[in-house]
Amino acid sequence: MRYEKTLQRFARNLLNSRRKRPSMLMASILLTYRCTQRCQQCSAPHIQTQRPFMPVNDVRQVLDTLSRQGTQGITFSGGEPMLHPELDACVRLAKERHFLRVHLLTSLFGPDDMVERTIDIVLRHGISVSCSFDGFGKLADELRGVPDVAETVMRNMHKLDKANRQRRRPVQVGVNVALNRRNLSQLPDIIAFVEELGWKINIDIYRWASERHSEVDQLKLEPNDELRAAIELALRSPSVLTPDWLLKGFITYLEGNAPKRCPYLDLPSFGSKFFINPDGEVEVCIGGSIGNILRNTPEELFTSAAWWQRLREFKKCPGCWNTCYTLTSGLFYEKRPEDILKMLRLTFPGREFPRVFSCYRSKQTGTPSRVESAWC
Ligand SMILES: C[S@@+](CC[C@H](N)C(=O)[O-])C[C@H]1O[C@@H](n2cnc3c(N)ncnc32)[C@H](O)[C@@H]1O
Ligand code: SF4
Ligand code: SF4
Repeated sequence: MRYEKTLQRFARNLLNSRRKRPSMLMASILLTYRCTQRCQQCSAPHIQTQRPFMPVNDVRQVLDTLSRQGTQGITFSGGEPMLHPELDACVRLAKERHFLRVHLLTSLFGPDDMVERTIDIVLRHGISVSCSFDGFGKLADELRGVPDVAETVMRNMHKLDKANRQRRRPVQVGVNVALNRRNLSQLPDIIAFVEELGWKINIDIYRWASERHSEVDQLKLEPNDELRAAIELALRSPSVLTPDWLLKGFITYLEGNAPKRCPYLDLPSFGSKFFINPDGEVEVCIGGSIGNILRNTPEELFTSAAWWQRLREFKKCPGCWNTCYTLTSGLFYEKRPEDILKMLRLTFPGREFPRVFSCYRSKQTGTPSRVESAWC
């Protein structure tokens, strides 16, 4: 059934591609803006919406519309999605629609009963999950605006890990690091901790172009030797799934010399990323609604004056460099088998990909790369 659905959606993707219309291939549903933390980098908990949580009936309608439009992957995010009182029903509805990927992005920070309920939901429905982890000790508390962040999240990661290991079909678990000037020195320890746990890591750099992010000078990274060393370490780690071209490009990007890679302009059908707010408003990378998915059809959204305005803004934008917006378009930017493999594993966590991908280059050159060595 899942493959039938995937193929049906793929046919829709091709049709959208011919019409140069977004397929909303990977969509993030922000179930709420409420949050258990107050991170320096993020403005989500301060955003006012008409309704605090997206009602389950709206989630159903959103999922149906996305499915018809060709969406292949859903991420439930927020705010803090664990706070949604009917998270279980939301995840079930997504699973019933047989998307290729259903993912939960969470801080894993909250009262024990809420975290345990979430772990149960994740494992019962078999969805992948990533948890934000930006540092240890006092620094983590300062970055995330609440006390005992690292201790609480590490404890909850161990709980999830233990429950996951007891299952015959474990779900893919990962960590999302938002790298900034303040936590850069802790990256080696973060990588070591995640490697020891056997989880995967995605590294993004702190950004502030979106209305959902906050601009904080202290967090802005600089293209210096410390960052170069951190990137070298990330490139060597078998746990880091951020594609090499992105990691290597951070310095060039911060120096202002990276090519502009805008998925909305380069690959409108397959690359564009959309965020659906708790009240149904549809936003893009830099924020600003293009309409409401509960009231407007995708046809209306992508012919609206607001969409044309966003397209003008995309053209003026100086560029960005992160995995969030390039999750799928990255496959087309860099065609090295190693990067394609990492991108696929990041996009569809827990799936096995044909060894031919990972072994291709070693057969060509005789020298296996890091990822190839791990696989072949
Ligand atoms: C907005 S949060 C929502 C999910 C959940 N509350 C959490 O923190 O994981 C999604 C991800 O965006 C990251 N993030 C938030 N603000 C950011 C920023 N300004 N730059 C880069 N990543 C950011 C968070 O660290 C988190 O991994
Ligand atoms: S990054 Fe996540 S945990 Fe932090 S304030 Fe934003 S939504 Fe909340
Ligand atoms: S380059 Fe494109 S995806 Fe990146 S922030 Fe600018 S408009 Fe958004």
